[in-house]
Amino acid sequence: MASFSVLQWCMTVSILLGSAFAQLSENFYSTSCPQAFSIIKDEVKIAIKKDPGMGASLLHLHFHDCGAGGCDGSILLDDTPSSTGEKSLVVNLNTTRGYEIIDKIKARLEKACPAVVSCADILAVVARDSVVGLGGPNWNVPLGRRDSTEAHPYLTEAIAPLFLAGLDAIILFFEAKGFTKNEFVALQGSHTIGMARCLTYKNHIYDDKNIDPAYAASLRANCPKQGGDSKLTPIDSTTPFVFDNMYFINLMKQKGLLVADQQLYTGKGGTADAIVANYSSSKDNFFNNYVTGIVKLGKMGVLTGKDGEIRTNCRKVNGAKA
Ligand SMILES: *[C@@H]1O[C@H](CO)[C@@H](O)[C@H](O)[C@H]1NC(C)=O
Ligand SMILES: *[C@@H]1O[C@H](CO)[C@@H](O)[C@H](O)[C@H]1NC(C)=O
Repeated sequence: MASFSVLQWCMTVSILLGSAFAQLSENFYSTSCPQAFSIIKDEVKIAIKKDPGMGASLLHLHFHDCGAGGCDGSILLDDTPSSTGEKSLVVNLNTTRGYEIIDKIKARLEKACPAVVSCADILAVVARDSVVGLGGPNWNVPLGRRDSTEAHPYLTEAIAPLFLAGLDAIILFFEAKGFTKNEFVALQGSHTIGMARCLTYKNHIYDDKNIDPAYAASLRANCPKQGGDSKLTPIDSTTPFVFDNMYFINLMKQKGLLVADQQLYTGKGGTADAIVANYSSSKDNFFNNYVTGIVKLGKMGVLTGKDGEIRTNCRKVNGAKA
């Protein structure tokens, strides 16, 4: 659990599905719902103003949605009496949040243009607006995803063993699937605004040598050796609510919170060391690779055309009983 990041893990799940990067269009709603962008931007702005940590949570939802069966809005489905959704899985429980903000956006969109904008597309645009809202790069979001009619908890659970293979193997795997190594490392930079639970970095701050000792000591105050598993700490200890390249600068000072963060920079010529150094000295290089990476991620496993549906309530498939 602590030795790989949720980000790597969830990206891998959708890649395993082997779906090609589908055709989407940035203009998909330009006649059917031109107000969509301003409604979403507006609500994301309100949410982040109220709670800056929400930006990371909303970005995380898009990654986790794409992680289980593709970017199809499946993560938003509530459990039903007959099926367990993705929200209740251990990897998502107490980790993902912000569902009520998606509900609020969806309700406004349903008023403005009923049954037009998919929940999966909402998540993709919300992710972009969250990054922009915290100072990160802007990009045009390809659109036209449709929503799944089922959750994919089994896909979410099948993947952990892959990560025992280590960083080199994971990077090779991603390269083979069409991501560049630069994009893979840049996407890990999402952690510039992320929080992690004590449970996930406890071993690193008590047992590892590959961490700045003063940094480790400062973290122990909020993460006891026994208990306290749910206590949260920012992954980027310097500017936790700014989407910048401080995450990479910190890695070069051995101030990576998770093992999965610090393994990107070893200081001994590791696989990703040069890229981390590059991003730590150039925010633009980080941003450029982040944008191409997240656009690719957002196209994985999508439903288009007549597949799936446009859910009118992101929590339920259409026609489900209340
Ligand atoms: C989730 O949070 C609840 C309430 O804080 C806690 O009882 C439960 O153990 C947590 N579950 C996990 C998997 O962390
Ligand atoms: C840094 O990254 C950029 C963008 O990916 C690349 O063009 C450049 O060659 C890299 N520079 C170094 C010194 O690796």
